[in-house]
Amino acid sequence: MTTDYDWQGFWGRKANDDSALSASGRGSTSITTFLHIVADVFDVLKPLPSDHVLDLGCGPGMFSVVMAPLVARVHAADLAPEMVALAAANLEPYANATADGGSLTDTGQPLESFDKVLVYSVLQYLPSIEDAAVAFRELARVMRPGAVGFLAANPDPYLRHKRVAQINANPNKEARKHERSLIEQILWISRVEAISMAADSGLEAFARGENRLTSQHEFMYGLVVHKPIAGT
Ligand SMILES: C[S@@+](CC[C@H](N)C(=O)[O-])C[C@H]1O[C@@H](n2cnc3c(N)ncnc32)[C@H](O)[C@@H]1O
Repeated sequence: MTTDYDWQGFWGRKANDDSALSASGRGSTSITTFLHIVADVFDVLKPLPSDHVLDLGCGPGMFSVVMAPLVARVHAADLAPEMVALAAANLEPYANATADGGSLTDTGQPLESFDKVLVYSVLQYLPSIEDAAVAFRELARVMRPGAVGFLAANPDPYLRHKRVAQINANPNKEARKHERSLIEQILWISRVEAISMAADSGLEAFARGENRLTSQHEFMYGLVVHKPIAGT
């Protein structure tokens, strides 16, 4: 499947929403649910004071904001310049945080420069599975040996019917039409394909269910990746 939908423009416009939660695509998510999501990310990435963290597809930079006080350095990167500007403004209080343009397939970051990498709800906006394979190679390139990555909230093609059922339950006809058109424009990468692309890039990987406290868990999964240390 390939899509030429202008996701960069879509997210660039979302950056103007009146809250960071809404700009990140979580307009109907409660603060408590978002805190559960943050706890889930921390559970996987376990931020340490020595960590250099890459938040790729950072959106408004909320995960960078919560990690910056805990780690050595955070770099937030996004394809949409409007999101980069928003993330930079949100990260302004933190001297150890930076924000810049960068894509999943070409981060522009040095080889083996990060201990933790977060890619939260981004993989599905790539144009094709071939781009996803490039993205995995790029992640493996910027991860240090021993680094951990979390590619969260990936739509699962085998659970697509559950997303369709959610959309059909929406009483608003226009919203249903809009949501139905959007699910045609995202990449639905299976767990097996994702693990296989990770392995081809030299990463160990396993899929895990999404945080059960979110509505996304019904049709999404997370992928935890690890770059092995040579000889171990
Ligand atoms: C659903 S939002 C998630 C934002 C943030 N990760 C979060 O969970 O709060 C998706 C973000 O991914 C960005 N994005 C989409 N495609 C991208 C790509 N190929 N490389 C980098 N960022 C991308 C969008 O601009 C948008 O900010």
